[in-house]
Amino acid sequence: MRDSLLIKAAFSEKTNRPPVWMMRQAGRFMPEYWEIKNKYSFLEMCKTPELAADVTMLPVDLLGIDAAILFSDILVTGEAMGGDLSFTQGVGPKFANPVRTKADIDKLDTQVVHKLQYVADAIKVIQQRLNGSIPLIGFAGAPFTVMSYLVEGGSSKDFKLTKLLIHNHPELAHQLLSKIATVTADYLNLQIAAGVNAVQIFDSWAQALAWDDYKEFSHRYIVEIISKLNRKDIPVISFCKGSSVFAPLMAEAKPDVISIDWNVDLLDIKQRLPKGIAVQGNLDPHILYADKKVIKERIYRLFDRMKGENGFIFNLGHGIMPDIPFDNVKYAVDVIKEFSY
Ligand code: CP3
Repeated sequence: MRDSLLIKAAFSEKTNRPPVWMMRQAGRFMPEYWEIKNKYSFLEMCKTPELAADVTMLPVDLLGIDAAILFSDILVTGEAMGGDLSFTQGVGPKFANPVRTKADIDKLDTQVVHKLQYVADAIKVIQQRLNGSIPLIGFAGAPFTVMSYLVEGGSSKDFKLTKLLIHNHPELAHQLLSKIATVTADYLNLQIAAGVNAVQIFDSWAQALAWDDYKEFSHRYIVEIISKLNRKDIPVISFCKGSSVFAPLMAEAKPDVISIDWNVDLLDIKQRLPKGIAVQGNLDPHILYADKKVIKERIYRLFDRMKGENGFIFNLGHGIMPDIPFDNVKYAVDVIKEFSY
C-alpha cells in the first residue's frame, strides 16, 4: 500500500497522475446502492460487516477509483457514547435524546470503543475483498460536527443551539467536546489497528464558526486527536467545509493532507501551507451535473493548475449529491485515470 498512488500523494511524493476518490462515492447516486438499501436500514448496513463491505466495494468495482472509503457514518461515535440514533428517509439523522445540559453531558460514556467493534470487523472483511489492490480510508467525524448533531438532535441550518452552548456555556461545550475527542481518537486507532491505510477526519460544519470559535471549539480538539493517532505510514487527511479560510490553522494540527473546498484556487492555498502538506480537492460537486465537455474541461483546468506539484489528490470540495448522474461520475473517473503529466 505504501506504493499506491493515494498514499504516495498523501505523503507529498511524486506520482504520474493525481489519485482519485470522491467523498460519498458509495451512496445514493448509484442504482446498485438502492438495491441494498431497499432491503436493509442504513444502520443495519453499517453494522453488518458483510453489507458494509458490499457497499464499500461498489465504487471500487463500478467506478475503478484509486481508494476505497469505509462505509459507515460519522455519527456512530455519538451513538456509542449513548445517543439514540436513527436515520429516516427524507429526514436524515436524528438523536432522540439531544445533549443540552450538564446532566446530559455527564451521562455520556467515553470508554465505548468496544461498541464499535463492528467497524473493525467490517474493515477486516473489506481488506480481504480489496486483497491489496487499493488503499482503504477509514474516517471519523470531528468533535465540533458530531457535537452539533448531538446538541441539535439532528441536522441544522443555523446551528443555533450549538452556538448558544458554546457562547453561553463554553465550559459545558468543552466538557462535551473533550469527551467526543477522547472517543474519536480511540475509534480512529481501532480502525488503524484493524487495517485501514489512511484516515480522514470530517468537520463538515466548521464553516459555521467564526475564526476564534473555530480555533477554540474545533481546531483544538483536532490537534488533540491527531496527536494521539498511531499514524506510522498512515496518512491523516483533515477535511472541513471552510478549509479555504481555515487551512493555514488546520495545518498546525499536523495532518498529512488538507481537503479543500471549492471556494479557493487550489494551488494558491497549497502555496500558503507549510511544505510537505498535501492537498485534496477541490472540484465543485455541481460540475458533475454539467455536460461531459464541461466536466472534462474543469478537470483539465484543475490538473493544469496543479502541474508539477507533488501532494495532490483529486476529490470534490464536498460529497457527491444523491441525484448526480452515475454516468457523469464514471466519466470523471475515466478522464482522470487516462490523464498523465
Ligand atoms: O463517503 C462515503 O461514501 C462513505 C460513507 C459515508 C457516509 N456518511 C454514508 C452515508 C461518510 C464518509 C459519511 C460521513 C458523514 N455523515 C458526514 C461528513 C461528510 C459530509 O458529507 O460532510 C456527515 C455530515 C454525516 C451525517 C449524515 N449521514 C447526514 C447528514 C446524512 C443524511 C443524508 C444526507 O443528506 O447526506 C447521513 C446519512 C448517510 N450517510 C447516507 C450515506 C450513504 C444516506 C443514507 C440513506 O441511504 O438514506
